[in-house]
Amino acid sequence: MATSFRPATGHHPADAYLRGPYAPVHSEVTIDDLDVLAGEIPHDLEGLFVRNGSNPVFEPPGRYHWFDGDGMVHGVHFGGGSASYRNRWVRTAGLDADLDAGRARLAGILEQPDFSVPGGPFKDTGNTDVVTHAGRLFALWWLSGAAHELDPVTLDTLGVCDFGGTLNVTMNAHPKVDPGTGEMVFTSYSMLPPYLHMGVVGPDGTVTHLEAIDLPGPRLQHDLAITPRYTVLLDMSMMFDPEQLAHGRTKVRFFRDLPSRIGVVPRHGTSDDVRWFEVEPFFMYHVINAHEDGDEVVLHGCRMADPLVGDPDNVVTAIAASRAIPQLGHLRLEPVLWQWRCNLVTGAVTEGPVDDTVSEFPRINDRFMGLDTSFSYSPTFADRTTLAFDGVVRHDLASGATTTHHYDHGWLGNEAVFAPSSDPRRTGESDGYLVTFVTHEDTGASEVHVFDPSNLAAGPVTRLGIPVRVPLGYHTEWVPAGSAR
Ligand SMILES: [Fe+2]
Repeated sequence: MATSFRPATGHHPADAYLRGPYAPVHSEVTIDDLDVLAGEIPHDLEGLFVRNGSNPVFEPPGRYHWFDGDGMVHGVHFGGGSASYRNRWVRTAGLDADLDAGRARLAGILEQPDFSVPGGPFKDTGNTDVVTHAGRLFALWWLSGAAHELDPVTLDTLGVCDFGGTLNVTMNAHPKVDPGTGEMVFTSYSMLPPYLHMGVVGPDGTVTHLEAIDLPGPRLQHDLAITPRYTVLLDMSMMFDPEQLAHGRTKVRFFRDLPSRIGVVPRHGTSDDVRWFEVEPFFMYHVINAHEDGDEVVLHGCRMADPLVGDPDNVVTAIAASRAIPQLGHLRLEPVLWQWRCNLVTGAVTEGPVDDTVSEFPRINDRFMGLDTSFSYSPTFADRTTLAFDGVVRHDLASGATTTHHYDHGWLGNEAVFAPSSDPRRTGESDGYLVTFVTHEDTGASEVHVFDPSNLAAGPVTRLGIPVRVPLGYHTEWVPAGSAR
């Protein structure tokens, strides 16, 4: 990036997410032929591993939340027995305006929003998710924003994609691609009515369905799930407090007297077609997967029962009593793997834990999205008050059995993507690799680790050195070789 800037370093105690392994990097680099530190690059690992995250260009104008930073993608291209690395900022309109101004113009989510600022109140950073669909690559934002299209080779930002002029709402992070039809199912949400849309982008890259969904208020959204026939929507008991919002203030509250709801709707259905199932109040960032089982739609996800810091009604769980629970702004992160079963015939719903390991940022083999998958893969939480991952765990979704690999002391990881084998003979659910970045919290040394999903406990089968620091971040994606447009 041809610019100079004041590096964001963090001065406030709340700015822990600007220091150490979270500290932003200050340049874009391209490095070919990464050193293979251990093992060898599997012949059937061919494609792009890419991860999004916060990397603020300027000093924040107020208190900093980890989710505030400008988006930066870090990518590793695998192919021909070698690998290369590059990182690029997501060049959003908000970042360009900041660069023109020479400063960060907008406060983050821990400050009161200024609705009078053009493009505000918050900057759409595109920093959250990265998703490939129909040969294209998109960086997406957790507060529902533009679909920033990235070049899957250079990782340069190509611009905002409106899907041939067919998308006239924002797109939230975490759309889901149906491996059977090639459709991408997405949501869009807003603090103002209509609070939620669901939509479908067809394999031709145009929006084929868009429907406003009736919600009683500005529920915080993050993720959705699909099955071959249905979309699973969430109406959770956490939201921007409507009373505060009426006065132009944003304050997230958890209403533990308000049941949460799981909505099951045909993919091309309407708001009236949504079957809502009332469940115990919860908040959840990420679903793992959903599938159909007879009359039931089964949902797995990372459920939090006590999602706010300092809530006097929070229960001190055995987990919380034994270890530090990470905090991220006002959020308290103690998610456990949960299952809900929604019966479309009787209207009954059952729910319960699958395992009490604290884990988040789950991934599956996306070739099995919406089907009855056996396994999920999630980073495990380090015992500290900021969100950091000290290993990766495979869950057997039926039994709850786990297999875990812990990184060596001082090394912290990220979401691990499932990279399906490029060998056409290897098409099973576990046929592929887990790929993740790991960074040493003291030295900043950074590596890519590649795992055999069926033998996590053996540790990485391949370790690649990256000669620059890769800060901790959020979501990952795998773009198979040859799939880009
Ligand atoms: Fe997310």
